[in-house]
Formats: sequence, structure tokens, C-alpha cells
Amino acid sequence: MSLFASLPQSDFPLADWVDGKKLMGKKLAEAVRAHIRAETQAHSLQPGLAVIWVGDDAASQVYVGGKEKAATELGYKSLVIRLPATATQEQIVAKIHEFNHAPDIHGILVQLPLPQHLNEREILQAIIAEKDADGFHFVNQGRLLAGAETVLSCTPAGIVLMLRELEKNVGELNFAGKHAVVVGRSNIVGKPMAQLLLSILNMTVTMCHSKTQALDSYVAAADVLVSATGVRGIVNTNKIKAGAIVIDVGMHRIDGKLTGDLDLQPVIERAAYYTPVPGGVGPMTIAMLLYNTFRNARALSAARHLA
Ligand code: GUN
Repeated sequence: MSLFASLPQSDFPLADWVDGKKLMGKKLAEAVRAHIRAETQAHSLQPGLAVIWVGDDAASQVYVGGKEKAATELGYKSLVIRLPATATQEQIVAKIHEFNHAPDIHGILVQLPLPQHLNEREILQAIIAEKDADGFHFVNQGRLLAGAETVLSCTPAGIVLMLRELEKNVGELNFAGKHAVVVGRSNIVGKPMAQLLLSILNMTVTMCHSKTQALDSYVAAADVLVSATGVRGIVNTNKIKAGAIVIDVGMHRIDGKLTGDLDLQPVIERAAYYTPVPGGVGPMTIAMLLYNTFRNARALSAARHLA
């Protein structure tokens, strides 16, 4: 099966989640969760998600709380294992091995960032590919690169789902051959995002990052712009092409208020569609995590019946 099959195969009418120019991920995430609920019931499954949270990173607290709440609301079995910042590599890997063998757990997620003394790569690769909830296992990353169906990294999957629905429902939109510019090259967002824009939407993709020269010229040439820099103000939004689609993955708290990577006023004026922060990309990330866990549960259950 092709990569396209990694996404929820359902229609999500724009009237439910597009508000003028605003792509309301929060609303689309509700519809995706309803789809997952129907699918888990149809397959008589109770997916189980285990989150391992090490240390006390403030942002992680919000994310982990959101994941737990969303999983419980969908009737999932939801476990959050909290370990102190002093936890050892061996303790964390032992916990992962326990969940790798637990028949009621289908998704395992290690919340990032991890404390500095830990080997993140070794910890993430300890999760078996079949229970990877984040698309971080090397096998799943390889499948993404090869264009095979797989577990997708949650944030890029949520974004490509929004774009797919937009393209399906807006007559004049056709992404094939158009120019997507991804700013940021992280393993979590930038790299898988570029791959999905290329493979699923057939876009011509440019990856920009902190060493890119003349970033403004790429921003000005983008039909779809994804900012995943984690830093505010890198992208000059006054340069955005009129009619572009602008996706902001950033999440910053400034004077107690949540905002994205981008200076919004020029985006509102120039873009055809854009994602607000909060309520844009963030809720889609959680919805895709739940979807990945459901897919794993379905595949593991099918494998068990064959065994
Ligand atoms: N921390 C911030 N975003 C993510 C994510 O998508 N997955 C994990 N595991 N940790 C994160």
C-alpha cells in the first residue's frame, strides 16, 4: 500500500473546519477523532497508548496532559509514566521493553525533549516499529522515504491531511508541481514534512534552515509555506506571496499569550489560507497520534489473528 493510505481515509467537509482564511485544526481534529471513534468501534478495538515523560520540561506538561485527555475521551487505554530527570538510560529502555511486550499497548511515545544526559536516538529506537506512535523508528522513516504505507510523524501528517482536504474541496487548488517551502529541518517536523509534500501532494519542495542564504527569496516563491523553525521572526512574512497557504508549526508563550513562529498581520493580509496559533496545527498533532495508535492496534490485532 502506498504512503497515501497512512492517512485517515475519510472526507472532512471544509464547512466544519475552515473559517474564511483560517484553517481551524482544532475543528478538523474533532472530526478526525469522530472518525477514529467510528473505526475503533467497527473493528472492536481498544487502542492503548503509553507515554513516557522524563523530567519536568514545562511545555511537555501541556502536551502530555493534552494527549492523555484526548486518548481517554476516545476510550483508549491511556498510561503516562513519569520518571525523574535523573532517570537512567537503562531504566527508560527497560520501561520501553515492558510496553513492547504488553498486549494492551499499541502506541509508545517518549516525550521529547529528554534530559541532556540521555541518548535520545537509542531510546527512540528501543520502541518496536509496530508500536511506534510517532513515526520515529528507522524502519518507519525508511518506509516514508520509499513511499510505502507507514506510521507518520504526527505534526507533518496533520498538516498534509489539512492540505489534502483543502485540495479536494477547493476547485481551483491543485498542489501538483507547485512550490512548497519548508523552513526547519528537524527529524520530527521539517524532514518528514518535505517528504509528504513531495510524495502525497506531488509538490516541488525546497527545504530551508538556519544556514539558508537569502531566505526571503524562498519565502517569496512559496505557494505553500511551512514554518517549523521553533524561533520567532526568522521568516519575514512581508515577503509571502499573495494567495499562498501558510502553515505555522511554532508555539511560543509571549507575555502569557500563545503565538506561533510568524508575525501574523502580514499573513492575514496576504495568504489565501493560514493556520492560527493556538488552534491550528497543535490539535492535529494529537489527533494524528491517536490515529497512529489506532492503526497500530488494528495491524497488531490482525497479526494476532493470523498467528
Ligand atoms: N515533543 C514535541 N513534539 C513532540 C512529538 O511530536 N513527539 C514526541 N514524542 N515528543 C514531542
